[in-house]
Amino acid sequence: MPSEILITEDQIRARVAELAVEIRADHGHGTPIHFVAVLKGAFMFLADLMRQMKGDVTCDFIALSSYGASTKSSGEVRLLKDLDRGLEGRDVVIIEDIVDTGLTLAYLQEILRAREPHLLRTACLLSKPSRRKVDVSVDYVGFTIEDRFVVGYGLDVDERYRHLPDIRVVKGVS
Ligand code: PRP
Repeated sequence: MPSEILITEDQIRARVAELAVEIRADHGHGTPIHFVAVLKGAFMFLADLMRQMKGDVTCDFIALSSYGASTKSSGEVRLLKDLDRGLEGRDVVIIEDIVDTGLTLAYLQEILRAREPHLLRTACLLSKPSRRKVDVSVDYVGFTIEDRFVVGYGLDVDERYRHLPDIRVVKGVS
């Protein structure tokens, strides 16, 4: 079990609450907001963020595959599970756990924009700007971190450690 805690449970809780307030204020208090969460990593961030949101909020899920690590650099992303409902005219916020190269998010923003939402914004818990390969816009960032391999709070290594309530560093993985 990785032991080096990078971001504590308390820090996450406080930041998620701030993000919820910011997102609600930006969209107006009477506006329904539709969250689109990217499986699997974003499930915990989504659950906590939704519980902090005031007003009308709904969610849907999408799953993407980057064909494994070797092709991630090519930017090739495949849609594994699509949304249940359309996005036309809605205020949509993409919910991601981490933006690394940005390739997944760039692809997702492109396909969702084509569905003509009224607004399309993105919230990610973690961002590693030093790893970016494409310039993607992220409207809400929980924490900007160095290029270290992190797990917990939804993030995994080989499907493990998603359940950890904090963000931890895994040594020996890059
Ligand atoms: C992670 C993360 C993002 C993506 C970010 O997903 O959840 O979707 O990688 O990387 P990028 O910015 O370099 O494209 P992953 O493929 O590990 O799937 P998971 O969420 O199921 O763990």
